Amino acid sequence: MTKEIEKQLVRTALEYRKRAYAPYSNYKVGAALLAKNGTIYGGCNVENAAYTPSNCAERTAFFKAVSEGVKEFDAIAIFGGYDGGELKPCAPCGVCRQVMIEFCDPDEFQIIIGTSEDNYELHTLREMLPFSFSPKELER
Ligand code: THU
Repeated sequence: MTKEIEKQLVRTALEYRKRAYAPYSNYKVGAALLAKNGTIYGGCNVENAAYTPSNCAERTAFFKAVSEGVKEFDAIAIFGGYDGGELKPCAPCGVCRQVMIEFCDPDEFQIIIGTSEDNYELHTLREMLPFSFSPKELER
């Protein structure tokens, strides 16, 4: 991944964060998922009055891509924080990490988290989800 694409992912995640529907937590998250074919899928968290149906920004992006027939990915940028407040690094929740391991190579897939366009870091999915239960476990 080039620096330029990295930055584009960060910018897209920050842009999609503005679309977050988070009236209950007021914590807004944006994500930008880079497919191997070069397409970027944006996502935001979408909350619900019944709470449990809420969806994280990352899963919104993944499900958008998969529903378009795209299942191979290189990286995701995630930015979150309270509306109107400063951004804090927003590591993906456990459920979203599990969705990532379904489709992504843990040693290749990069997760970008940070606080601004100029302040972020990259982590592999392996770092974020060691000892995972992946589709490999169901092979026989
Ligand atoms: N959230 C995400 O969208 N992604 C994360 O990685 C962490 C949490 C959402 C879920 C909920 O709408 C709000 O942030 C507060 O937890």
